[in-house]
Amino acid sequence: MRNDVERVLYSKEELDMTVKRIAARINEDYSGESIVAVCILKGSIMFYADLVRQLEIDCVLDFMSASSYGKSAVSSGDVKIIKDINTDISGKNVVIIEDILDTGHTLSYIKAHLESLSPKTVKICALFDKPSRRVKDIVADYSGKTIDDLFIVGYGLDYNEKYRNLPYVGVLKKSVYE
Ligand code: IMP
Ligand code: MG
Repeated sequence: MRNDVERVLYSKEELDMTVKRIAARINEDYSGESIVAVCILKGSIMFYADLVRQLEIDCVLDFMSASSYGKSAVSSGDVKIIKDINTDISGKNVVIIEDILDTGHTLSYIKAHLESLSPKTVKICALFDKPSRRVKDIVADYSGKTIDDLFIVGYGLDYNEKYRNLPYVGVLKKSVYE
């Protein structure tokens, strides 16, 4: 598994620092308020679990799952919700927690869906951002690291459901997916 990784892009220590920095901003922005933190499965699980433990505000946890990828390394734009949240978010502050904002197809679909449920606010928090690949007009309100057009795995991120359990984020060798 580790032989498929060309190089480590972010170590566990760097990821920890990034998560702490994002959490501090959320704590400040929602001070005295509460949020519903929506984890987008499965890629965000590590980030989400680490982030919510750094939150000092009242926080309800919920989970969604959407698919747009299939087996390829390129988003199809055809997004489907596989699992929706159970929480009533009307009048609530919602923060969507996502692994990567890439083309933006997935998050624009999910954001529009959540906005249709009458929340007070909806914000996007993405650990990674690949702005060079954006197709949809969407920005992250909180973003950890801006990265080039590389395919990364680990810390929740997969290729074909593999590598999610790596404790660091690495660049996948092109030979694995080309
Ligand atoms: P989008 O719909 O193109 O923005 O795709 C977002 C989803 O694509 C993310 O939630 C990831 O699951 C996946 N994705 C995008 N880039 C990468 C990557 O470099 N590694 C692993 N998954 C990725
Ligand atoms: Mg994903």
